[in-house]
Amino acid sequence: MAFFTHRFLRSMSSTNSLAIKHITVIGGGLMGAGIAQVAAATGHSVILVDQAEDILKKSLKKIGDSVGRISKKKFIDKPEAGAEFVQQTLQKISTSTDPASAVRNTDLVVEAIVENVNVKQELFKKLDQCAPEKTIFASNTSSLSIGEMASATTRLDRFGGLHFFNPVPLMKLVEVIQTPETSQQTFEALMNFTKALGKKPVACKDTPGFIVNRLLVPYIMEAIRLYERGHGSKEDIDVAMKLGAGYPMGPFELLDYVGLDTSKFIIDGWHKMDPDNPLFAPSALLNKLVDEGKLGKKTGEGFYKYS
Ligand code: CAA
Ligand code: NAD
Repeated sequence: MAFFTHRFLRSMSSTNSLAIKHITVIGGGLMGAGIAQVAAATGHSVILVDQAEDILKKSLKKIGDSVGRISKKKFIDKPEAGAEFVQQTLQKISTSTDPASAVRNTDLVVEAIVENVNVKQELFKKLDQCAPEKTIFASNTSSLSIGEMASATTRLDRFGGLHFFNPVPLMKLVEVIQTPETSQQTFEALMNFTKALGKKPVACKDTPGFIVNRLLVPYIMEAIRLYERGHGSKEDIDVAMKLGAGYPMGPFELLDYVGLDTSKFIIDGWHKMDPDNPLFAPSALLNKLVDEGKLGKKTGEGFYKYS
């Protein structure tokens, strides 16, 4: 009995030591702002980090708008409770331009910066020197190797992937990625954190694109190639996939929504890794739009124009 009690208490304390309450999100763009929002809305305290104050101001504005939309639906007949929910969520978020100090007392770092392995490694290497032992590191990468990022740190066992989907406040799925070095405790803590956010986790191996993007990215690239060959207008391809396959958005709408720069980073990385794979071939049109700064909805123009 005493042995049981001792073991029980020990397991409770180890679970508690991994319970994630305070998170630091690095990158306040499309994804980081959404991740910070859902974490704050579910009672976690959040520090959101980006490179400049003006970017963070925009992130907070975006979060405020999005929480407002959610609260209108959630508290349809209770506007006062809705206003309180918005206020409580926003109060849980603070911002910083200094990643080193932001991670000093955090349970989990979720990185959502540019899709470039060197930049991500450099960031994680720096954070590894400032974050406490207990802190788990996770990347929201769409396409890069979690193990490669972890190799820049000394905490291979406390490093995993948390891949959210855009728009984060609405999309229910999170892919939880375990490398061969990620400990079971870390993996479970990440699974539990995902559930605490109200999301549905799926377990993934550390393979390019995990589950969703390994299927989705070749599909959207095929759509661009079909359009480049002149075999359909982008409008017709979008209508066809929405009405014929039941997708909520057509591939060109989705490309603009995800960001053409992010899509290009993904496909360029995979092409470099496997140059003979026709599914990973680059697209001249995608490259041209990115060169012109037409990155999709976030810049006002991509395949389509947005007012
Ligand atoms: N925050 C809060 N609420 C939002 C919101 C946001 N960011 N975006 C939309 N909403 C709300 C709207 O207010 C609206 O609410 P009402 O019903 O009360 O009006 C509701 O959601 C529906 O929105 P819309 O009418 O504007 O549009 P919709 O019905 O088409 O739904 C969508 C929007 C959920 C984005 C849907 O189009 C969709 O599921 N699209 C596909 C998204 C997708 O595939 N995402 C994955 C991309 S890939 C990825 O993320 C991985 C990667 O690594 C690249
Ligand atoms: P984004 O361009 O909207 O935002 C990236 C943010 O990171 C920017 O605000 C930028 O200023 C900031 N940043 C860049 N380098 C930084 C650094 N060193 N320190 C702090 N901040 C830095 O990009 P996004 O679409 O949010 O994508 C972010 C990550 O999430 C990428 O790895 C991407 O592949 C992944 N992702 C994107 C989507 C999507 O649909 N866009 C979906 C899932 C995952």
